[in-house]
Amino acid sequence: MAFHEGGFYRLPLDERRRRLASLLEVTEADVQDALGDGGLREDAADALIENVVGRFALPFAVARHFVVNGNNTIVPMAIEEPSVVAAASAAAKLLRSFATESTAPLAIAQVYLEGARTAVDDNTEVLDVAPILARADQSISNVVVRGGGAREVEVSKVGEFVRVHVYLDVRDAMGANLADTVAEAVAPLLEKALGGRALLRIVSNLSDRRLTTARVRLPVDVLGRATAASIVKANEIADLDPYRATTHNKGIMNGVDAVALATGNDWRAVEAGAHAYAARSGQYRTLTRWTLDDTHLAGELTLPLSLGIVGGAIRAHRGAQFAIAATGVSTAAELAGVAAAAGLATNFAALRALVTTGIQAGHMRLHARSVALQAGAEGHEIDTLAERLSGAGEFTLERARSLLETLRAEPSEAER
Ligand code: MEV
Repeated sequence: MAFHEGGFYRLPLDERRRRLASLLEVTEADVQDALGDGGLREDAADALIENVVGRFALPFAVARHFVVNGNNTIVPMAIEEPSVVAAASAAAKLLRSFATESTAPLAIAQVYLEGARTAVDDNTEVLDVAPILARADQSISNVVVRGGGAREVEVSKVGEFVRVHVYLDVRDAMGANLADTVAEAVAPLLEKALGGRALLRIVSNLSDRRLTTARVRLPVDVLGRATAASIVKANEIADLDPYRATTHNKGIMNGVDAVALATGNDWRAVEAGAHAYAARSGQYRTLTRWTLDDTHLAGELTLPLSLGIVGGAIRAHRGAQFAIAATGVSTAAELAGVAAAAGLATNFAALRALVTTGIQAGHMRLHARSVALQAGAEGHEIDTLAERLSGAGEFTLERARSLLETLRAEPSEAER
């Protein structure tokens, strides 16, 4: 199967799995093995968290047509909401080429001291940072071996407390465990150096030194200038009004979270970081920028993305390992690029629909297809039945079954 061949969504599920296997150059059995059981065996689930009584499945899909930094990219998405995968794929087909970049993967270990020396100013001069960095590195030596480690110490006052940030290059890990380890390891040294007592020792999920940006450029003619200009205005509204920005950013996170979830990452951390970053100016704003010049509509999404490709739940989750392998990435930064591209795509799809037909038309079209499938439609019947359901404006299974019966009773093209 050619990478960007269309019609994937029309294929029966088994055939989609076959095509995916062929794209990934693995066997169907490999795909089945990774995704059967929802990617997580019961004993692995039992070892992962407490009080396990079962497993909870979500649909696992692949968004199509993405080219990220010049690479044809399969985008794995785990999500329960209809339309999102279709919207991401349709947007990627149009936008096609996403350019992404990430800063160094710096996680933040925080220590809050109470009763510390109050002469501490907003600088690190008050502290000899070398022993702190050394102690931090010692506590996470397995990351140091891979080229990561403690990079910087920053001291500041927060109310009556002294806050110490230790910035850690966590390489391909999500980083929370490493940051928690470092925070606890350096706290006694900080107490000694600055006085007082370490009250909190924990990662900060506002990882604003671990940012990822995705960019696209679309010739204006593809959408027409009026639609492109409306997309820019829709983005401006989200920048002005937190009520709209929340929904706008939710549409971005539809793509980002689905990739985070499919790849076994901590999507709550990603969510918390993204929304805090959106509010960094003091007002909650859009995470995207859309601009229009004479020839192109340009979109850009920047957000903190603490994603890992090693450690955490990924170790136990074969589905997550499969999803990461399917993207073809070899670093966490590249995976963050894929997630950001997915977020920019779902945002573009939402804005385009909102400023033109509205989003319900697309939702209903997809809903009609899914009801047609449930009613037993196969092959070319699916689209015809979906059209008839939409025409009838009624989407019950009963109506679908009766329309399917009528359809099957009609003479075929060849018989006519
Ligand atoms: C729905 O999941 C997401 C949207 O509401 C996003 C948006 O309004 O931009 C369509």
